[in-house]
Amino acid sequence: MAAATTDAPRRLTVVLGITGGIAAYKAVGVAREFVVAGHDVHIVATEGALRFVGRPTLEAISRNAVHTDLYEGVAEVRHVALGQRADLIVIAPATAHTIASLAAGLAGDLLGTTVLASSAPLVIAPAMHTEMWEHPATVANIATLRARGVTIVGPDSGRLTGTDVGAGRMSEPSVIAAAALAVVGPHDLAGRRILISAGGTREPLDPVRFLGNRSSGRLGVALVDAALARGAAVTLVAAHLEVAPPAGASLVEVGTAAQLETAMREAAREADTVIMTAAVADFRPAAVAEGKIKKDAVGDTLRLDLERTPDVLAGLAAARRPGQRIVGFAAETEADADALLRIGAAKAARKGVDLLVVNRVGWNEGFGSGATEVMVLDGAGNVVARAAGEKAAVAHRILDVLA
Ligand code: CTP
Repeated sequence: MAAATTDAPRRLTVVLGITGGIAAYKAVGVAREFVVAGHDVHIVATEGALRFVGRPTLEAISRNAVHTDLYEGVAEVRHVALGQRADLIVIAPATAHTIASLAAGLAGDLLGTTVLASSAPLVIAPAMHTEMWEHPATVANIATLRARGVTIVGPDSGRLTGTDVGAGRMSEPSVIAAAALAVVGPHDLAGRRILISAGGTREPLDPVRFLGNRSSGRLGVALVDAALARGAAVTLVAAHLEVAPPAGASLVEVGTAAQLETAMREAAREADTVIMTAAVADFRPAAVAEGKIKKDAVGDTLRLDLERTPDVLAGLAAARRPGQRIVGFAAETEADADALLRIGAAKAARKGVDLLVVNRVGWNEGFGSGATEVMVLDGAGNVVARAAGEKAAVAHRILDVLA
């Protein structure tokens, strides 16, 4: 495939505030989520935060200098400059102390001044012990911030520091980043109902074995994240994902091609756009053994009779309602760019889709990786977009075509 770059989605300046709680180590993951999605991340870490996580780690991940001191960069009025440049401010973790400072509008450190000097949306991810989270002071401070338009993500319930369990655990980095990006939009898919299949089906041979494929579901999940961030209502039909399904989507879990077909047909009734990223088995064992297949009973060679599975995508395209848009994917091992395009064009026509996203896969390409390179064909086989890079950015580019 030709080296491809495209108009990237809007690159945001994200100020990530990290404050001094044990969950600060997870803030590295939050920074990474934004960087991977193509945004420019500037970390403001309190002295407390730097006791939990090292400056070199934060600088390596964010690819920018980490700011801590109010009295550094005074000539450039850094506390105002950062706040003014920010498109989005995220504080993760936000300790009880930070939440109280924010509620009171205190400007005693670089993070406080940056927040006050900014009109950007503020998203905070609280993390603290359950008693602190439930203390009336914290409850009142959170109410104040909420009333001021601050978005609060989490906290989750679960394992806290030490052996304690309860509410107060910082949300997962991917959840925080997705919620924060959803605040800034664009919300160009608001009101749209998008159905996305992801992962790979498994066709059982016997109670312990299956025929499967190497699809991780990462690109499908990136599409779900991106569509949710842009305001769509998303249903995810998931087959054996290697990554966690996004919390904001309504989830239908399936195992086999037949189950996936039933789930997709049902959900497609409500969807105005259907995106089939799932790797669906083309063949399944014609008979599934009741018990475990035993070597002794088979001998040296096991011959499997396989039968065709339904082509879910072609079926959905044939049954589409007026206005409903159908997007297929094609993972191909063809190395030659022109041949790849021809295969893609023929597949788009055969399946009757509105768009076909073609990418190259191989032994060491495509599966399970964070990055990909795709071309998007229309139903007539014309290339309407190309995108390369992290799957999150590529997902946005695909949605740009749909939007
Ligand atoms: N697909 C489907 N049902 C199947 C097989 C594939 O819905 N039984 C969908 C996939 O989700 C994908 C698209 O069809 O969106 C293309 O899948 P692919 O495996 O590339 O196409 P096939 O029709 O199986 O063609 P071939 O394997 O011969 O290249």
